[in-house]
Amino acid sequence: MPASVAIVTGAAGDIGRAIARRLSGSHDVVALVDIDEGALAAAAAELGGAPSFVAIACDVTDEDSVRRMAAKVEELGRATTLVNNAGAARAVSLGDTTADIWRQDSALNLEAAFLTFRALEEPLKASQGSLINIASVNGMAVFGHPAYSAAKAGLIHFTKLVAVEYGKFGIRANAVAPGTVRTQAWEARAAANPQVFEEAKRWYALRRIATAEDVANAVHFLSSDQASAITGVCLPVDCGLTAGQAEMARTFSQSDNY
Ligand SMILES: NC(=O)c1ccc[n+]([C@@H]2O[C@H](COP(=O)([O-])OP(=O)(O)OC[C@H]3O[C@@H](n4cnc5c(N)ncnc54)[C@H](O)[C@@H]3O)[C@@H](O)[C@H]2O)c1
Repeated sequence: MPASVAIVTGAAGDIGRAIARRLSGSHDVVALVDIDEGALAAAAAELGGAPSFVAIACDVTDEDSVRRMAAKVEELGRATTLVNNAGAARAVSLGDTTADIWRQDSALNLEAAFLTFRALEEPLKASQGSLINIASVNGMAVFGHPAYSAAKAGLIHFTKLVAVEYGKFGIRANAVAPGTVRTQAWEARAAANPQVFEEAKRWYALRRIATAEDVANAVHFLSSDQASAITGVCLPVDCGLTAGQAEMARTFSQSDNY
C-alpha cells in the first residue's frame, strides 16, 4: 500500500505547522506546501524532516506552480487529505482596499483552494479522501478585512460545492472557521496594540481565544473516519464568537446573568 499523504498549504505558518504536526499521527507523510522557502525549510526542520515531513515550495495562486506541487505529491504516495490553509488579509476596511488588494485576497483565500483541489482531485477520488478548507469567522459575519472576508465566505461556499459534486466519489469536503488565533498574521496589530488579544477575549463566550492546536484538532477530526458522515459543513473553532454576544444579550434582556 503506497504511503498516505496529507497536503497542508501555508504549512510554514503558525496554524499550518500545528495542522501538519497533528496530521502526522494519522498520515505516513505530510507535504508541507508554502511560498516562503526559508520559513518552509525551518518548519520542516522543526517538525522533524523527511520522511514524515516533506517541504514543497509552491505559490498556491499560480496554476503551474500548483500543478508541479501536485506532481511532487504523487511521487510521495496517495493523497488522502488536502488542507487549504494558506491565507492572509491585506486591507482592514473597504476604504483601504484597492482593486489589486481585492484581486490578491480573492486569489489567495478563494481561488487557490479551487486550483489545489482540481490539481489533486484524481488522487483524492482514488483514496476517497477529504478536503478541509481553513476559512474564518470573517467569512460568516463582518469583523473587518473585507476582501479577505468575502473570499473566506466564498471558500465556505466552495466547500459545499465540492461536497455536493464529489460526494459520489467518496470525497468529503469541510471547512474550519477559526476565530482569533495568536499567530504571526497578527504581528502588526499586536505591535500597534500589545493589549489586542486581552481586549479580544471579551467578545468570546469562553473568554479566551483559540490556539493553533485547537484548529489542528478540528482538522484532524474532520480528516478522520470519526467524521465519515460529515461533509459540506463549516465548523467554527471560535470559542463561541459566532454563537452570540453576552454583552449584547445583557443589553437586550436587561439581565445581569450574561
Ligand atoms: N490567525 C488568525 O487569527 C486566523 C483566524 C481565522 C482564520 N485564519 C486562517 O488560518 C490560516 C493560517 O493563518 P495563520 O494565522 O497561521 O497565518 P500565517 O501568516 O502564520 O501563515 C500563512 C502562511 O501562508 C503562506 N502563504 C502566503 N501566501 C502563499 C501562497 N501564495 N502560496 C503558498 N503559501 C502562501 C505564508 O508564507 C505563511 O507561511 C489562514 O487561511 C488564515 O486566514 C487565521
